Amino acid sequence: MSNATRRASKKGSRWATAVAHPNIALAKYWGKLPGDGNVPAVPSLSVTLAGMRTTTTVAFDATLVDDELILDDQLQAANGRAKIRATQLLDRVRAAASTTSRARIVSANDFPTASGLASSASGFAALALAAVHAADLDWSAERVADLARRSSASAARSVFGGFVELDGGAEGGASRVVAGPNALDLRVIVAVTTEAAKSTSSTDGMKLTQERSPYYAAWVADAPDAHARMRAAVVAGDFTRVGELAERSALSMHACAMAAGIVYVTGATLAALAEVRAMRASGLEAYATIDAGPHLKCLARCADVAAVHERLAAVPGVVRIIETRPGEGARLADEDAS
Ligand code: DP6
Repeated sequence: MSNATRRASKKGSRWATAVAHPNIALAKYWGKLPGDGNVPAVPSLSVTLAGMRTTTTVAFDATLVDDELILDDQLQAANGRAKIRATQLLDRVRAAASTTSRARIVSANDFPTASGLASSASGFAALALAAVHAADLDWSAERVADLARRSSASAARSVFGGFVELDGGAEGGASRVVAGPNALDLRVIVAVTTEAAKSTSSTDGMKLTQERSPYYAAWVADAPDAHARMRAAVVAGDFTRVGELAERSALSMHACAMAAGIVYVTGATLAALAEVRAMRASGLEAYATIDAGPHLKCLARCADVAAVHERLAAVPGVVRIIETRPGEGARLADEDAS
């Protein structure tokens, strides 16, 4: 990292720009431990996805009276949820750096924001890394991930590249790399079903699930074992096992949430899921996963990307396809080679 990029020359204004990718959980978490630590109730394992990115600049400026957040070219309301969450992260950085300077944050996604494409994961990973460097803190990636997790738990996993696990339950909220981006013959093809923002955030959806789903206890009991099996399949480089376990994890999470009245899937999501299953029946090995939104992410081998792309693009309600691959963790913009 060069000091020229990290800090503006103007006195009292220090800045940094970071890039991060979303991640998709192959073994999902859903639900939090009680308390305000934002620790997931169960462990999870994800793959960081090159092919979609958030770019965020944080500039501390002693002349500002409040933090300012510009998200996808829109100045966010001072009392809006996005701005409040960003300020909470910056407050932790300010406390660690012993500064009271407010900051201007400019963040942009090259994919739909807040629609279940994990924009909060890449968003808070990029924000945490940029803020830590703009404040001149010399933190490890693990500490940056812990900062990101406190804002959005899945964001911890986007700090790292490749296959990443996040501890949950009594294990606490630490995260680490399980395997590098090339550990598996894997591509993730995203079937985007709407460009609109989702109606129930992950935070609210999981809270309601914990309160209302008759299946929540069963989900919490099953997820650690599902995570351990996924970890073993990833380490073994077993695409088939990873795919089977990923589809099972996604359907278990959605079944648990649906029983609480939280429905993220739409007709288009289910039509895409049926197509993935039809692919398998016809000998094209592909698996589906779905996060807290209506899009479907299809796991396929590298050689099958074109065939899967074509079939998903033809599903009614699928508006566009994004091809992604296992990628790098969050990094400063001047270290970005992609
Ligand atoms: C379905 O980590 O985005 O993607 O911490 O409340 O911001 P908050 O929630 P978040 O929820 C992610 C839920 C999930 C599953 C997963 O990523 O493991």
